[in-house]
Amino acid sequence: MKKRNEAARFPILNAKKVICLDTAIKALELTKRYDDKLAVDNIDFEVMEGEFFGMLGPNGAGKTTTIRMLTGLTKPTKGKAIVARYDVYRESSEAKRRLGLVPEISNLYNELTAWDNLMFMAELYQVPKSERAKRARELLELFDLYDRYKQRVMKFSKGLKRRLTIALALVHSPEILFLDEPTAGLDVQSSRMIRTLIKRLNKEENTTIFLTTHYIEEADELCQRVAIINKGRIVALDNPEKLKIAARGESVIEVTFDKIPNRIEDELMHMDYIGNVTRHGDKLRLFIEDPSEDILSIANFAQMKGLKIISINTLKPTLEEAFIELTGLSPIMIERLEQMKPKGRGRSG
Ligand SMILES: Nc1ncnc2c1ncn2[C@@H]1O[C@H](COP(=O)(O)OP(=O)(O)OP(=O)(O)O)[C@@H](O)[C@H]1O
Ligand SMILES: [Mg+2]
Repeated sequence: MKKRNEAARFPILNAKKVICLDTAIKALELTKRYDDKLAVDNIDFEVMEGEFFGMLGPNGAGKTTTIRMLTGLTKPTKGKAIVARYDVYRESSEAKRRLGLVPEISNLYNELTAWDNLMFMAELYQVPKSERAKRARELLELFDLYDRYKQRVMKFSKGLKRRLTIALALVHSPEILFLDEPTAGLDVQSSRMIRTLIKRLNKEENTTIFLTTHYIEEADELCQRVAIINKGRIVALDNPEKLKIAARGESVIEVTFDKIPNRIEDELMHMDYIGNVTRHGDKLRLFIEDPSEDILSIANFAQMKGLKIISINTLKPTLEEAFIELTGLSPIMIERLEQMKPKGRGRSG
């Protein structure tokens, strides 16, 4: 692992990009069993240094348990977690010095001010006394919290708290940042701000990011590679574009005619090259093998039937399709599971 000049790490805007290809995180047959519940089932993967890696899965899939094992908070039943080349259990303090964790449930002290939370965390992580105030100031500025440094955290909104939680996780300048659903429950603006900040950390500081989420669009937007986890098992691991293509064996063309005659779906379905037809408002979606050849046939069909084509588009495959295929869950089911999620403090391992 590349040795870093700690003082040069902040502010991130001035940092130079470092490109290396060392392994930052390694999970080897990582398994966690709670009584008869197999929360994480024998998972293996590697995250490269500087990579933005995502773990996408529905509620109860095993995301938090994986993060807890990778950050030394829960002992695996079987297997090994390596972070920054250190065994998270055998060389726990070495590994922990190099990782930061933004937990699913806030670890802030509500009675303390933002400043005192940062100073307390800096002391806990043994940041040299002479550097603590400077580091705290830089983080408060970076997360746009400086004008609130004297305020007690209990007065903070959810979004502000989440930003401070991320700042706390960065106080010791970790090389690897683990974030457990950092935008869950936040409004659109706060979520966007957090995503922008994490992206900058990754791009400008080369911080390796391991992020869990159940927001498919978030994984698609941020991650270079995504592991889809379901019932404790990794069911797919690739970059989002490859996952999308793998999920959809056929292409979809969306076409709008100037009118929709009766039984047009049946007529289209009878054509050799069309696998299926679905209607979405005034649009028809045609599931076909090869759009480059079949668009011409659709134009011929329209002419034959005396129809005008108002619009015609090839729809790109989505990560949502891959997710549904791999987990068997629709976004509505995911939303329902999210609403059923228990509220309360963290679990012990
Ligand atoms: N301390 C524990 N004791 C018993 N079972 C647990 C414990 N922690 C987690 N589990 C179970 O392990 C499974 C995985 O839980 P985990 O919290 O890792 O899922 P998750 O993917 O993070 O879900 P969410 O999206 O709801 O945060 C679930 O079935 C959960 O009920
Ligand atoms: Mg979780």
